[in-house]
Amino acid sequence: MLNKETEQNQKMEATLRPLLDDAKYNFQLVKVGNIVHNVEYSDELLLKAYNNLSEVIRAIKPDATITDFSLYGSGTIPNECNNCHYGIEEAKVRVFDVDFLHKPHVNKAGLFCFDCHSNKKQHGELIIDKTRCSGCHHSMEEVPCEKCHSTQSDLYAGTLFSDSDAADVMFDEEVSCRDCHQNDDGDITRDVVENCINCHDEEYESTLEEWQTTISTLLHEIETLRKTSAYEINLEDIDWSNYLSVIRDGSKGAHNYELVVKELTDLKTKLQTGP
Ligand code: HEC
Ligand code: HEC
Ligand code: HEC
Ligand code: HEC
Ligand code: HEC
Ligand code: HEC
Repeated sequence: MLNKETEQNQKMEATLRPLLDDAKYNFQLVKVGNIVHNVEYSDELLLKAYNNLSEVIRAIKPDATITDFSLYGSGTIPNECNNCHYGIEEAKVRVFDVDFLHKPHVNKAGLFCFDCHSNKKQHGELIIDKTRCSGCHHSMEEVPCEKCHSTQSDLYAGTLFSDSDAADVMFDEEVSCRDCHQNDDGDITRDVVENCINCHDEEYESTLEEWQTTISTLLHEIETLRKTSAYEINLEDIDWSNYLSVIRDGSKGAHNYELVVKELTDLKTKLQTGP
């Protein structure tokens, strides 16, 4: 004769078993049927399987913790990106020349997958642009400028071309990126002249202009020599990397005037007289 407990267990199994079978079937369909590329349909099946399994677990062990995927949900289909991309928080990817982690953006900044990705044209397409990265980051302190602007930081510190160059005088005096780049409204800007003359006197307005004119002229001269070198110089013998770094820096000398003048003058001489 069956005791009460066994009877109850049998009853429970009768209701839960179909849920389990159904979940297994849907899971197999996605896995074995290899329909993973129909993301919308796969997601629907996996979501059903997830809900079934949650119900089974809750019935058997009411205090069990069930992974909550709602953080990644959107209300639109496919909404459960994590059904297939579980663990994406740990993935390190490279974007806009920066090492990018998902974790702080999903867990801390509270962004949803679809803030940055879309399924419209192509599954997972990246839709966030550079301006949105800087839009957030230029108004927060947590991530240092160097993380995203390593060329500018290295030039300022004198370590862009080699380990033994001189840092900019202002770097040595601890003038920070923000000291030059932050305006009165607290925004990060490339309009820095106001700040030059906050620290120095009015004449320094023209100092910046002179720096940039000198560097632009040198860059232009080098570009001309590069195209029309009057001497028998094998351009492949020339190391262009520092020249390209100066262009990538974009400040036209402002981040380390002395050093950039020296580098470009050396290069110009090489192009005129041979390496
Ligand atoms: C049914 C499973 C499934 C779901 C649900 C799913 N994906 Fe994917 N996703 C894939 C597969 C499969 C790939 C291709 C993986 C590969 O090539 O290694 C992929 C690739 C991607 C990629 C990389 C694309 C590329 O060009 O490299 C991104 C980004 C992505 N998915 C984002 C998302 C987002 C955001 C969601 C939720 C809106 C989502 N996925 C939901 C299965 C899924
Ligand atoms: C702040 C923006 C942002 C958010 C939020 C975000 N991603 Fe990404 N994701 C990126 C960037 C940037 C890349 C790499 C650029 C690229 O696709 O080439 C990437 C790449 C991926 C890839 C490809 C990984 C690889 O190794 O190539 C997958 C898959 C992915 N994301 C899934 C997701 C999922 C799932 C979510 C939500 C949990 C999510 N992403 C949220 C920005 C974001
Ligand atoms: C909604 C605001 C927001 C947007 C948009 C955003 N981030 Fe972030 N990011 C954060 C927050 C918050 C952190 C965590 C900061 C901390 O450590 O407290 C972070 C951390 C980082 C870090 C340091 C941690 C790491 O991943 O190594 C980098 C680098 C970074 N973000 C790059 C980017 C890039 C590149 C983009 C654009 C594709 C971007 N962020 C878009 C808010 C944002
Ligand atoms: C998470 C990455 C990130 C961090 C951290 C970051 N930036 Fe940026 N910054 C960017 C991106 C991306 C752009 C390019 C935006 C664009 O193309 O419009 C940019 C652009 C700029 C520009 C050019 C602005 C313009 O209008 O053209 C300046 C100047 C700048 N950043 C300075 C800083 C300074 C100073 C800091 C530290 C206080 C800083 N950035 C921190 C990502 C970052
Ligand atoms: C002495 C003042 C000064 C300091 C300090 C300074 N910058 Fe600049 N920065 C400039 C000037 C000037 C420009 C060029 C602006 C222009 O011509 O539009 C510039 C341009 C930039 C740009 C835009 C580059 C481009 O491609 O257009 C970035 C990014 C930048 N600085 C980041 C930084 C970072 C990061 C630091 C700290 C490591 C820093 N700057 C320190 C003066 C400064
Ligand atoms: C936060 C204050 C601050 C800002 C902003 C600043 N400087 Fe300086 N600057 C200094 C300090 C400190 C020194 C080193 C001490 C000295 O020699 O005056 C210095 C040194 C210099 C020097 C070499 C020595 C001299 O006095 O001639 C020049 C040139 C110069 N800065 C130009 C500029 C220009 C151009 C800008 C704007 C693009 C600028 N500075 C922005 C503080 C600043």
